[in-house]
Amino acid sequence: MGTRAPDEPDADGRKGVVQMRAVLVRESGGPQVLVAAQLPEPMAGPGEVVIEVSHVDIGFVETQIRSGGFTEYFPIRPPYVPGGGVSGTVRTVGEGVDAGWLGRRVIASVGATGGCAERVVASVDRLAPVPDGVGLREAAALVHDGATAAALLERTAPKPGERVLVLGASGGMGTLLVQLLHAAGVHVVAVARGERKGALVRELGADTVIDGAEPEWAERARTALADAGGAADVVLDGVGGETGLAAFPLTAEGGRFSAHGAPTGRFAPVDPQEAARRSIALFGIADVQLTETEHARLAGRALAEVAAGRLRPVIGHVYPLAEASQAHAAIEARSLIGKALLTTGS
Ligand SMILES: NC(=O)c1ccc[n+]([C@@H]2O[C@H](COP(=O)([O-])OP(=O)(O)OC[C@H]3O[C@@H](n4cnc5c(N)ncnc54)[C@H](OP(=O)(O)O)[C@@H]3O)[C@@H](O)[C@H]2O)c1
Repeated sequence: MGTRAPDEPDADGRKGVVQMRAVLVRESGGPQVLVAAQLPEPMAGPGEVVIEVSHVDIGFVETQIRSGGFTEYFPIRPPYVPGGGVSGTVRTVGEGVDAGWLGRRVIASVGATGGCAERVVASVDRLAPVPDGVGLREAAALVHDGATAAALLERTAPKPGERVLVLGASGGMGTLLVQLLHAAGVHVVAVARGERKGALVRELGADTVIDGAEPEWAERARTALADAGGAADVVLDGVGGETGLAAFPLTAEGGRFSAHGAPTGRFAPVDPQEAARRSIALFGIADVQLTETEHARLAGRALAEVAAGRLRPVIGHVYPLAEASQAHAAIEARSLIGKALLTTGS
């Protein structure tokens, strides 16, 4: 995908094609490689809809892809439009799509790219309707984090009374996990950095919050878990690297360990043989790669929790589309609590 002046013909030789505002990653690099662009309006093909975008969801992994990392998982080459999830209103429907979708408020995961634009195309199978009473801003915070949090709880199945250790508890997904676990009657030990983030995570329902900036955080977590009755039945590692690895010994024999996060640059390099020896079930990023319909189902579940007042998306900051680079910089600086979003409004 590329940019062109409005009076320049597009790839099919069409002139005067209507343009829309979008964001482009023009090359791999720091946040400054995110630039504003004018791109042709998308059209819905068979089985697709065009969504008028309200908000765009941004995740940590997108900053890593922008820097040129994680090519083994995301073989994406610049220039490309970043943004994998949106909330908005269905404006047009393609062939074979029920016209009943027209005008409906939805969220959609649109793949790894393409979301940072005023209009996007999505397969109808990817749509999750936004319930009345839930704003498009809150809904956008659930596109990936809500669906993945619901998937993680399905896979690792924490039961009431069990002890769960959450790493990266102050992030977009961590703040949802803490609330969902608390509501499920689980004892939550959460790791978050600094007083401000810790206070919020405690307010969301964590029984104990450990400051991840303290060198002895793992020992403190071990003590907190022991005070609650033993090692962690489940560890949800949204951080990875050495931090995730340090949490592995805190998992109970016969427990579950999910190494789905890698803001440190890599997933926790847990030894599968050691896990087998201690009868610990290992889960990883492959376990939360969701099919289109599974994604829509799980996102719908998270939306229903918000509609019922049992879940509150934590939105750290909403940036205009033109400030996508500031959003990426804030995520990398870990200065936000919860989610960063972009808005097509101002
Ligand atoms: N959201 C999804 O749908 C999804 C799906 C699959 C995998 N994941 C992965 O899960 C992880 C968490 O996702 P998220 O969207 O919740 O990310 P996020 O909002 O950026 O949160 C990650 C949290 O990790 C903590 N952290 C600890 N060490 C860090 C480091 N070295 N660099 C950056 N952050 C560090 C930070 O909290 P403190 O500052 O409090 O330490 C940060 O708030 C990511 O690796 C993501 O790729 C997410």
